Amino acid sequence: MVKAAVLGASGGIGQPLSLLLKASPLVDDLALYDVVNSPGVAADLSHISSPAKVTGYLPKEDGLKNTLEGADVVVIPAGIPRKPGMTRDDLFKINAGIVRDLITGVAKYCPKAFILVISNPVNSTVPIAAEILKAHNVFDPSRLFGVTTLDVVRASTFVAEVTGEKDSRSIVVPVVGGHSGDTIVPLLSLARPPLSIPTDKCDGLVNRIQFGGDEVVKAKDGAGSATLSMAFAGFRFAESVIKAVGGEKGIVEPCYVYLPGVPGGDEIAKVVGIDFFAVPIELGPNGVAKATNPLGSINEREKELLEVAIKGLKSNIDKGVEFASAEP
Ligand code: NAI
Repeated sequence: MVKAAVLGASGGIGQPLSLLLKASPLVDDLALYDVVNSPGVAADLSHISSPAKVTGYLPKEDGLKNTLEGADVVVIPAGIPRKPGMTRDDLFKINAGIVRDLITGVAKYCPKAFILVISNPVNSTVPIAAEILKAHNVFDPSRLFGVTTLDVVRASTFVAEVTGEKDSRSIVVPVVGGHSGDTIVPLLSLARPPLSIPTDKCDGLVNRIQFGGDEVVKAKDGAGSATLSMAFAGFRFAESVIKAVGGEKGIVEPCYVYLPGVPGGDEIAKVVGIDFFAVPIELGPNGVAKATNPLGSINEREKELLEVAIKGLKSNIDKGVEFASAEP
């Protein structure tokens, strides 16, 4: 039996993500939580002929507790999205508090759940989540993930557009670092199958992957950021976690984790000099089975990108940790 909970389920990401989870045969129980409209979203989804039982809760009457009790996987897309001209960091003020409160609920009601943080800025909200879980003595780094799958999905799609490959799913590009602008480091030199793209085109491609989110923000013209592609990516990651926990082997997804606390992560943390960082993670029954280190064989240009990313990440991480330590 798998219970999945979505916090922020009525939003632009939350609704299509909940739809995909409801349609999945891997989910038996789906609990939806939001400050508005979650009972309506749940009622709508409950008419779909798939196995999952769906319930929707608001904050009143112990809604968060009822959503989270017994949850195996908690996906968090709660919080405000970007408008044109905003960076993900601009969202910090509001979303930091939202994530803190929701993670406090996770710590109390389902401390063993796998936690998938989508709320931006992921570079800072995941460190906040870690600090809150630590304060409740329930932090298991192998169970806390910042979802960076959309960067990986974009990398495959944009590379395929350049190479002419029809099915972008056959292209795998490791994307490391963080999840915003130049903290996103696509490692085109390690793509599988290997790419033969001229160097001048590589720079443009890297830039498009790093700032792909801006294309959507601009096109939506004030109505938000990526929601449907993010729901696809968030579902892919949630499904990968559920499958790996169920015993499926060999599932690897890049995601943003607390390196010193996960198998294989310590050595990578020493290389990058920061604790939170996205690398390809092999998933297993307990979450992270192994963090893999692709940095040993990257090219000179990628080393430069990495340096810039680490600098940005350092300050994003510090900001999250400071916020969580300062707040009651
Ligand atoms: P949205 O505004 O459409 O939906 C957010 C939902 O969160 C709303 O339904 C709102 O009522 C709910 N909410 C607000 N406070 C809450 C609380 N305290 N408890 C529970 N629910 C609460 O926003 P959208 O487009 O769905 O984006 C959500 C977040 O995901 C944003 O922070 C956005 O930046 C981020 N995002 C992350 C991506 C990633 O790759 N990790 C990609 C795209 C967006």
